Amino acid sequence: MLKTDVLHRLEAQKGQIVTGGQLAEALGVSRTAVWKAIHALQLEGNEITSHRNSGYQLMETNDTLLLPAIRSGLTTSFVGRSLDVLQTVHSTNQYLKELPDAPNGHVVVADGQTAGRGRHGRSFLSQNRGGAYISILIRPGADPMDTRFLTICAAVAVAGALESVCGIDAGIKWVNDIYCGGKKICGILTEAQMSAELQEIESAVVGIGINTECVPDEIQGIATSVFELTGQRGVRNRLIAEVLNRFEPICLNSAAEDGKRRILAEYRRRLFIVGQRVLVKGARTPYIATVCGIDESGGLIVRDDGGTSHHIISGEIELMKEQSA
Ligand code: BTN
Repeated sequence: MLKTDVLHRLEAQKGQIVTGGQLAEALGVSRTAVWKAIHALQLEGNEITSHRNSGYQLMETNDTLLLPAIRSGLTTSFVGRSLDVLQTVHSTNQYLKELPDAPNGHVVVADGQTAGRGRHGRSFLSQNRGGAYISILIRPGADPMDTRFLTICAAVAVAGALESVCGIDAGIKWVNDIYCGGKKICGILTEAQMSAELQEIESAVVGIGINTECVPDEIQGIATSVFELTGQRGVRNRLIAEVLNRFEPICLNSAAEDGKRRILAEYRRRLFIVGQRVLVKGARTPYIATVCGIDESGGLIVRDDGGTSHHIISGEIELMKEQSA
């Protein structure tokens, strides 16, 4: 589609002025066709400035999700090679789970979600243009799949991507939250799909939601975003590609013991809750404990006030007040 091609060309030279003639020549169409495409893109809300007699400029802050822009930023071999970029969808995780015959590594991203899913049946606020909402399909290799470890892999990938693309010093709160400055910037929800006959995991969908724009008022106290932390806008395509670029090797390395050790080392380095007091939920009776670290399988080690250590492999923890990253 010409509009998409024009936008991709401008995105590749974001912030610079590109002449109508250059666009027309590169795309093999007339200048009038380019002008019409630009006009339509502007009407759709893209921040393109027309400079009289010199050309068109896509502003750095423009944040339209664009399939070719994400694809051209990929260095992966299978993650994201098959990719859907959607406008608004109920939930990218749900959409991907219902997609027939999607290949290993298939990725769905959306501009917004009307029923974004969080852990423990909660919802995940996903305003249009408000964040990077990503779901990745992973089919198991030879070994049985450890879906909890996939979440750990995703957390390490997202934290690294936020740091390299946006300069954000991201910390991890076990097991699936990325924090910065005491507030959550990203949540991860990994959902396994069982095969009915074999009763084993057929595939897993790793869902990642990163807040990029101002967060809604109702979660201002607990959540933050790329914009709120850095003032940057227009990073979603790069950020998504970088998350996928980092996730693939981490995910592949996690199959080997040595790789797993290195991933856990990075996870521990970013874990900011060691020594903090937490409420451990999910046990029959919630209890308060102090975080000691992460065990070799990615479980959380805590010590309760009676001095007993526990390895938590499921459930969740809540940080006690007045503590933060
Ligand atoms: C949590 O913090 O509880 C997990 C939030 C996970 C949100 C992401 S956004 C993309 C994917 N699709 C969903 O419906 N949920 C995940």
